[in-house]
Amino acid sequence: MALSAGEHEPLALGARDVLRGSSQSWLRRAQVKVGGVEERLRFQQEAPDFPEALLPFHSHPAYRALPALERARILTCGWVAYNAKTVVVETEIVTPVCTGLLRGDLPGVDDPWARRAVAEALVDEAYHTYLAVAVTNLSKEARGLEPPLAEFELARNVRAFDNRAGSKRTAALSRLAVATVSELLISNYLLSLSRDQSIQPIHRESVASHLQDELSHGSIFAELAQRVCRHLDAHELDAFSRQLALSAVWFSHNEWRVWSSILDYLRVPARRDLVAYAREAAAAGCVNPGNYAKLTEFAKRSGLAERPTTREAFESVGIWRSEAT
Ligand SMILES: [Fe+2]
Ligand SMILES: [Fe+2]
Repeated sequence: MALSAGEHEPLALGARDVLRGSSQSWLRRAQVKVGGVEERLRFQQEAPDFPEALLPFHSHPAYRALPALERARILTCGWVAYNAKTVVVETEIVTPVCTGLLRGDLPGVDDPWARRAVAEALVDEAYHTYLAVAVTNLSKEARGLEPPLAEFELARNVRAFDNRAGSKRTAALSRLAVATVSELLISNYLLSLSRDQSIQPIHRESVASHLQDELSHGSIFAELAQRVCRHLDAHELDAFSRQLALSAVWFSHNEWRVWSSILDYLRVPARRDLVAYAREAAAAGCVNPGNYAKLTEFAKRSGLAERPTTREAFESVGIWRSEAT
């Protein structure tokens, strides 16, 4: 049952333990305190800047037929776009939600440990933003490339949704759903790059450093969202579930518009075919199966999984069947 304003969270002790435990280790493990990747490692001219497997058209014959130098320039731009998307997630999605929680925009997260956990996450995300900008500057300078990037799908959709939201609370809940999904899924997003021994070492290590923080504080957002959910009515819970499913699609989008701007900038001869191929793949509007275990786990722990609307929303984008059974 939803709690009314001013009522205390019945599960606060368990939740507080999770948040307190995370807070107490933050001073030791936060990458902002132990980092320095950009000082430790040098840029290697001969190393590829990004894995080909992460290009949405990597298997297309027109891409495979490009000269090695042209493919390498596309990979550098892929790295630039990857970091630009990271900056969008940190600055436009997660940070505004953290500041909103500190301001008291949503109920259930007002005890001292919750506030401290949110403040620590803000520091972590600011450091990730710095790291993404610093390492991107290195690659842009080393390769002499400065690709213009179209707006990312995640930012575009969040802005459109904000404009349609009927109230401040609806907008805050919608943004919380997007941030929760981003925080639950970003580790998978970072994982393959952080383990790829074939790419530029400084790129791999900067992503590994980011991943370490996300693995530590990702559970905080799930905990905070769970506490907010206890204060929502049935209508709000259903809207929150639908927003979680939509956000998973937005987060996993292959960003064909961004790729279009990159391929135009590089004047890649087959760009129309490559963009059409990526656009068609994105049109399915479904997530890639196999990457959403943390999201379905959150739905189960928060009780959202028991709601028919959640199952319908998750199934409609292809999440539930592969992750939750
Ligand atoms: Fe981050
Ligand atoms: Fe994070």
